[in-house]
Amino acid sequence: MSNSINSRSTNTVSPSEYAKFDPETIHQKLNTSLSRPQLNSDGSIRHFLGVEGLNKAQLQAIIAKAETFFDDNGQLINSPELDGCTVMNLFFEPSTRTRTTFEVAEKRLGANVLNIDIERSSAKKGESLRDTLWNLQAMTADIFVVRHSASGAAHFMATEVTPNIAIINGGDGWHAHPTQAMLDMLTIHREAPRPFEELSVAIIGDIKHSRVARSDISALQTLGVKDIRVVAPRTLLPKGIERFGVQVYEDMNSCVTDCDVIMGLRIQNERIGSPLLASSSEYYKHYGITPERVALAKPDALVMHPGPMNRGVEIASSVADGAQSVILKQVNNGIAIRMAVLALAMQGQRAHQASGK
Ligand code: CP
Repeated sequence: MSNSINSRSTNTVSPSEYAKFDPETIHQKLNTSLSRPQLNSDGSIRHFLGVEGLNKAQLQAIIAKAETFFDDNGQLINSPELDGCTVMNLFFEPSTRTRTTFEVAEKRLGANVLNIDIERSSAKKGESLRDTLWNLQAMTADIFVVRHSASGAAHFMATEVTPNIAIINGGDGWHAHPTQAMLDMLTIHREAPRPFEELSVAIIGDIKHSRVARSDISALQTLGVKDIRVVAPRTLLPKGIERFGVQVYEDMNSCVTDCDVIMGLRIQNERIGSPLLASSSEYYKHYGITPERVALAKPDALVMHPGPMNRGVEIASSVADGAQSVILKQVNNGIAIRMAVLALAMQGQRAHQASGK
């Protein structure tokens, strides 16, 4: 972990516990306890930590809320639902899309926005995450949006450190990227010609290290997708992939044949040339999203990628920029989804505080 987390109690995964378990076990532990901190007793969202633990109606409510931020021409509209609120964006890892679309979303909701510069903060002098958060909390924040390299960081903040501030997970370790999953669901909902229940979705690439893949698989299953396919080099599939309830394909062409959605994933450059992945050209040959492979899918199939993309490795430029690509729509939809999640979490956090529990 790049930042130390001091645990105060045992009802979440503590740093010493992290060392004991493999990543999949940590994710399971986090997911089975996620519903408790993130929901009020009436099922409303108080923190947004993961899509696991949320049911179909709750995911549909987030999509429906996001739809209210588009006008009849499909343009985003402002809504001052966070007027007077202060949102702090804490990105302990780099980000282009998530950090910027959160900031745009917060400003469109009328919030006071502070982007905390972690590189220039006292975290760099060794201050613990807990102390950093308590100090920021004392500056009267209402919402923290957090991205962190440690799986469970947002969960830890919500349960152990700042239970009276709404915590939104902007990506934690390999564990979860729930707003990415929801913007992907909104994009499929808006762009796919068939309902979730009738879709075949192919996910290609580094499933093992991808928080996006984990969150997307969970959200797709909750929304009723029965045919979720994955293909990747064996070295980039997590242990126990069968438990995810997906079909594992050996060959990319079979995986994408007749599917409705092709989702690429980012290959982390540091894995290329490692024992996990021989070379980028070899990867492209076997797993690249090429025009020939897109032609095997349904004629109206969507091509998606969360970004950042490695063109010519994960995806051909002609596909990324082609007619079936909805990659930039995903980015635009990210604003509406983040507006929805921020507004719902603030509403739920206020209800929780008013209840005095
Ligand atoms: N998709 C995604 O999370 O991109 P960023 O890392 O740029 O936020």
